[in-house]
Amino acid sequence: MILVLGACGGPSEPSGPPGTSGTPPDAAAGGSAKGLVTAADLNLGGIDQDMAEKGKTTYDVKCQACHSLGENRVVGPGWKGITQRREPAWIMNMILNIDVMLTDDPEAQKLLEQCLVRMPNQNLSNDEARQVLEYMRTL
Ligand code: HEC
Repeated sequence: MILVLGACGGPSEPSGPPGTSGTPPDAAAGGSAKGLVTAADLNLGGIDQDMAEKGKTTYDVKCQACHSLGENRVVGPGWKGITQRREPAWIMNMILNIDVMLTDDPEAQKLLEQCLVRMPNQNLSNDEARQVLEYMRTL
């Protein structure tokens, strides 16, 4: 029972050490056959406050209804510490390519089993998704 209740992306979620989960499903295939973002597509430096600020605005408009900034689940998992739990490219793919992820990625499917709702594609541009990722890095 406790496992089920605390499972949706919370701190008690059973998963491997950071970095082992969230590898895009096509990473082993060495390409982006399905247009997924790979680590090589991302250039993460120090946190860019300006980008993070824009990401926060997108969050307020398009994500807040389902995602808290804490650890608690609303419809989807809370975002606190998400960049410690997940690879940046995996996060980008959850934002930009949710349907592929829910079909192919075991970690995404685990979340779906826990949350019981398919996250709808929010139709963000690449830049918008990147700004949200930057915002997540500040949480
Ligand atoms: C209608 C509710 C809903 C909205 C709106 C929504 N999400 Fe989600 N999100 C979910 C659900 C539910 C999941 C868990 C996967 C699933 O069941 O599809 C999820 C999972 C995620 C994950 C993975 C979380 C984790 O802990 O690994 C990320 C990242 C994410 N969403 C980003 C976003 C972003 C960015 C937005 C806004 C642009 C957004 N979501 C809007 C429902 C939503």
